[in-house]
This record gives sequence, structure tokens and C-alpha cells, in this order.
Amino acid sequence: MNAREIVPGISIIGSQDFDRRLFDVLIPLPDGTSYNAYLVRGSEKTALIDTVDPAKREELLGQLSHIDRIDYLISMHTEQDHSGTIPDVLEAHPETVVVSTAKAKSMLVDHLHIDTGRIEAVGDSETISLGDRSLEFLHAPWVHWPETMLAYLREDKILFTCDLFGAHLASTQVYVRDKCRVYEAAKRYYAEIMMPFRTVIAKHLKRLEEYDIQIIAPSHGQVYDEPAFIIDAYRHWVLDPPKKKVVLPYVSMHGSTQLIVDYFIARLVELGIEVFPFNLTVTDLGKLAEALVEASTVVFGTPTVLAGPHPSVVSAAYLIGALRPKLRRASIIGSYGWGGKAPDVIKSLLSSLKLDWLDPVMIKGQARKDDLKGIAELSTKLAKAMDGEEL
Ligand code: FEO
Repeated sequence: MNAREIVPGISIIGSQDFDRRLFDVLIPLPDGTSYNAYLVRGSEKTALIDTVDPAKREELLGQLSHIDRIDYLISMHTEQDHSGTIPDVLEAHPETVVVSTAKAKSMLVDHLHIDTGRIEAVGDSETISLGDRSLEFLHAPWVHWPETMLAYLREDKILFTCDLFGAHLASTQVYVRDKCRVYEAAKRYYAEIMMPFRTVIAKHLKRLEEYDIQIIAPSHGQVYDEPAFIIDAYRHWVLDPPKKKVVLPYVSMHGSTQLIVDYFIARLVELGIEVFPFNLTVTDLGKLAEALVEASTVVFGTPTVLAGPHPSVVSAAYLIGALRPKLRRASIIGSYGWGGKAPDVIKSLLSSLKLDWLDPVMIKGQARKDDLKGIAELSTKLAKAMDGEEL
């Protein structure tokens, strides 16, 4: 795709990757993604903000082929979807200096073997002049790695945010127009990429209150010309208390756990609780992560396999522990044939979260009517614990 102008002198380039379906060999991409780079022309100097995934190298180099001089290549984040083509740009443009945080400088050397002499580290709040335009750098660690920074173009009031405020969404439209679609994509992206760092993101959001921002230009997804749309969404996701919602990842091998799960869902619904069941044999992990953004409660459903939980439940529990959602409480339901310690294993995988654990209910064999009393009791206990939470 050709360069598209955001405002006079500033263009979005890079690549809209409509075909990519998996990120980090983990995250499903139902709407593809984009690797946005931005070309900022000042009266004296030109800056390129970020590059693209190496798979889209030729597209970026083609877009830059008519640019005589790139004075600065601003590297906001070392992950290869933004930095992977820096060596190619440096080879084509021997005059270019990479600008990054000091932490990113060493990471760019480690990951991409860039000559340290071509990287200039900038401090927090430091500014570089492009002539009639100037870029201020805001160190913003953990959005998404420890080396990340944002860049604020003062004269145009544009904040370039790289991963922060992004969405895995490929589109031919520059600006956000279909807000419902972008909200869901951005929420899912927040859940998958940003949620583990929500405490530090809260500090970044506070700092950004000092800036007059007219446009937010992330390096994934579309550009926001109504910045409040995405900033307010982040405030809700990061700061609001969790809601009266139960996320229920589960697996059933022979139907026993499914019977328990179905009964449990019916009881919770009767008690006015919203439930998000995720049968892990068909689950889109992005949807599971997204449901965790607001939920107060997780309950795992598992059969017993070789004395422990089903491996798919182990994987889900590990992922949830890594994503660090705002969950307050948890429990486990499921079945076993002759014994086992499935609940202990699941609990150990979530030991880094401060969760109030309600006693697990594991049923031997296929549940009889009496066996389900324990599930009904767990539902009632959960409803009591969730009393006062907003739906
Ligand atoms: Fe889009 Fe953390 O890279």
C-alpha cells in the first residue's frame, strides 16, 4: 500500500497484513494486523518512526525508495514486528541514525546486531528537532517490553505509541471509523499484550494527562483522531473494579465434566451471573483473554488425566497466570475416576495471583443428582462472594 497522509508532512507507511493469522506463534489474528511506520518531515530533517516485520521488508523499502534522506529512525520498541527491518533501512540509508532508549540500544544490538555507533540513546523527556517540528520522547517501559518509549510530536499534537493503544487489525482506512469493530480488536489486543502490565500502564495514563493529544498513532491498527475513545477504554480496562462475570475454561473427555459444567452454568445464570464458558478444544485464546479483562472470577472445569488436570486446562491456567487479569477469586470443578490432585496443580499455576480460592468440587465418575448438590452450593457461595459487583 502507498503512503497515506495523516496530516500534511506526516504519512503512515508500513504494511497492512491481512493474511497473518498467528502472532508470537500463540495469538490468533482473526482480522490480520498491521505494522505501521510513520514518516515525519520537518523543515530541516526527516524522521522514520518504527519499521515493519521482516516479512514485509520489500513493501517498506519500496515506500522509502523515493526518500532522499532519513535523518532519524525512531525505534520505539525492539520487538521484531517493528524493528526487524531496521538493518535493511540502515543499509539503504547510510546517513540514518537510530534513536531509542538506552535499554533499547543494547537490545537492538543483541537482537539485530546493529552497529552501536549508529544508535543514539535519548533520555526521558529529551527532544530532537526536525526544524519546524520536534519530537519529545517519553520513556514508557513495559508497553510492551522494558525498553519501550512513546514519541510526542509537539507542533501537531500527535502521540506515537507503538504497541500501546494498538489493535491487531488490518485495514485500508487510516482513521478509526467503525468504533465497535476497533473497540473489540483493541480490547482483545489489550488482553493479550498489555494486561500483564496494567499497573505500570496506569502510571503512563496518568502522565499522558499532561499532554494535549489530538491524534494517537499506534504501530498496530488504525489511527485515532478521537484519542479519548481509546484512552477512556484503557482507563476502564486498567482501573475499573472487576465485574460480576465468571470465566469458565474447561475440557471434557467423556462427558462427565461437561455435565457438571452445564449444570454449573445453569445455576449461575439463575443467580444472575454472566458466564463465559470456553471449551478449550475449540476456544480462540484471544476471546478467552478478552473475557478476562473485566471478570472477577475464574472457575476451571477439568477431568482428571494421570492424576492431574487435563493438559489443555494446565495450559489455560498457565496463560491466565501470565496475563495477570484483575480476577478476585477462583475455583475448580470437574471429575475423576479413582483419585488425583488436579486442583492442587491448577492452584499452583496461579500462585502469582492474589486469588480467594473457593473449595473445589470434584465428582467421582458421572455425576448423580446428589453429587450435583456440591456444584449448587459452590454457585451459591460464588453469588454471595460476588454480591455488590456490577454486571
Ligand atoms: Fe508489536 Fe511488542 O510488538
